[in-house]
Amino acid sequence: MASAPPPILTLTGITKSFPGVRALDGVDLDVAPGEVHCLLGQNGAGKSTLIKVIAGAHQPDTGRIGWKGEDVTLNNPVSAMRLGIATIYQELDLVTHLSVAENVHLGHETSTAGFVRRAVARERTAELLARLGHGEIHPDTIVGDLSSAGQQIVSMARALSHETQLIVMDEPSAVLDPDEVNNLFRIVENLTAQNVAVVYISHRLEEIRRIGDRVTVLKDGRAVARGLSAKETATKDIVALMTGRDVEYDFPRRAVPFDPTGSEPVLVAEELSRKGEFASLDLTLRPGEIVGLAGLVGSGRSEILETIYGARPPSTGRVLVDGKRLRPGSVTSAVKAGLGLAPEERKAQGLFLLESVARNVSVSSLPSFSKGGWLDRSRERREAYASTQDLSLRPNNPDARIRTLSGGNQQKAVLARWLLRRCKVLLLDEPTRGVDVGARAELYALIRRLADDGVAVLLVSSEIPEVLGLADRVLVMREGQVVHSAPARELDEHRVLDLVMEGSQA
Ligand SMILES: Nc1ncnc2c1ncn2[C@@H]1O[C@H](COP(=O)(O)OP(=O)(O)OP(=O)(O)O)[C@@H](O)[C@H]1O
Ligand SMILES: [Mg+2]
Repeated sequence: MASAPPPILTLTGITKSFPGVRALDGVDLDVAPGEVHCLLGQNGAGKSTLIKVIAGAHQPDTGRIGWKGEDVTLNNPVSAMRLGIATIYQELDLVTHLSVAENVHLGHETSTAGFVRRAVARERTAELLARLGHGEIHPDTIVGDLSSAGQQIVSMARALSHETQLIVMDEPSAVLDPDEVNNLFRIVENLTAQNVAVVYISHRLEEIRRIGDRVTVLKDGRAVARGLSAKETATKDIVALMTGRDVEYDFPRRAVPFDPTGSEPVLVAEELSRKGEFASLDLTLRPGEIVGLAGLVGSGRSEILETIYGARPPSTGRVLVDGKRLRPGSVTSAVKAGLGLAPEERKAQGLFLLESVARNVSVSSLPSFSKGGWLDRSRERREAYASTQDLSLRPNNPDARIRTLSGGNQQKAVLARWLLRRCKVLLLDEPTRGVDVGARAELYALIRRLADDGVAVLLVSSEIPEVLGLADRVLVMREGQVVHSAPARELDEHRVLDLVMEGSQA
């Protein structure tokens, strides 16, 4: 048997602490050329911290980094880039007011012959985008105008614009729909065929099976398993390594199917539409009912939630809560009536990064903690804490700045905010994106519990099993239209996929 090729990257005994947290505790990792090495672990396990060490964005407190057999010091991202290490971060780090081409070439040396350079950069960017299967993105487009999936592609183009030998991807699939994930995997296969090594992070275990070669599992900053076979290790063993326990995957089912008769609807949308986004929609939600919106990214699902919430004015139609019409395009009116929205892009829309966890959770409920103009801070903190505990936020410290939490834990904090506010209608956009398997089960149970308490939930998720498992009724969307509506128990994953994809195959 041929001996394994020597690793391109070797990490030995990497330790990294932040005030109060040891994020990495003696981690060893080796990555071979041409392999897809997956990093798994629960939210807060240290995955992003580890890849920031590889990217030169964090300096380890102790430990050694070897590159092709020699010790190296990665003082900053540029030194990693020069070696041939490219990174696609979990929180995209593009400069949103610059163009696609400018972002792709950021960090490359530019000469004074700016004009010629720019033309070359544009051309080269167009080539890279075409190679990524996204020739439709124009190099001159301002990055902020692209969808998150589009921005992801730009990050990828930037990574490929260097002579890359190792490419690190932190949850790249979280913003992609199934087609785009397939495209990403084709890119990954192309790269590995050229002997480029890939470090890949995802919370979706089925992806690890599909493209992973080896798996390293982190738990509380330690590598609890190194270099396991991605294809041959049983899922339950991986989950047990990640969580230290066996996790129930089952969706908490209703004991009795939801009975739509007998209760007045709490939310009604009538002929609601937005030009170019979604066509005339009629929707009724009753207290305790969970309605799921299934469809591809870009099928208009998020736009529907935002329009109901008043964040976008509708072109036609109206929204009623308890029979009373909401002021169109007014979030204030929606919130007053009892609506809550946990948005998809938490960093841009949902979080106050410099504030504490407690404030981020309580911000929408502040009036209820105020008396005579004074804010009852200890109550604010106490209730925020209780709400985050339900979601096993880690670290569960209400005074920590939210910026210092891991991606998945930030997501949980946004959800905690809406749980605390006790809305009548909860609009959830991709609630489990970036949330690990253990916390996911808890989140499902919590959504179920809210519905049992009478909260109406409108759920958008790209994960079809999640929609089918939680929702009572499912609306399938394609290109801004509801193409099918049925009780969840009458549908299965294949049927929904067929409905979602129909027509786009031709
Ligand atoms: N800048 C920082 N300051 C303080 N603590 C931090 C900082 N960055 C990360 N941490 C802490 O380090 C730990 C590891 O975080 P990390 O982001 O690496 O987790 P992760 O495995 O990527 O999780 P997720 O799956 O949620 O993205 C967490 O406890 C986090 O709160
Ligand atoms: Mg992370």
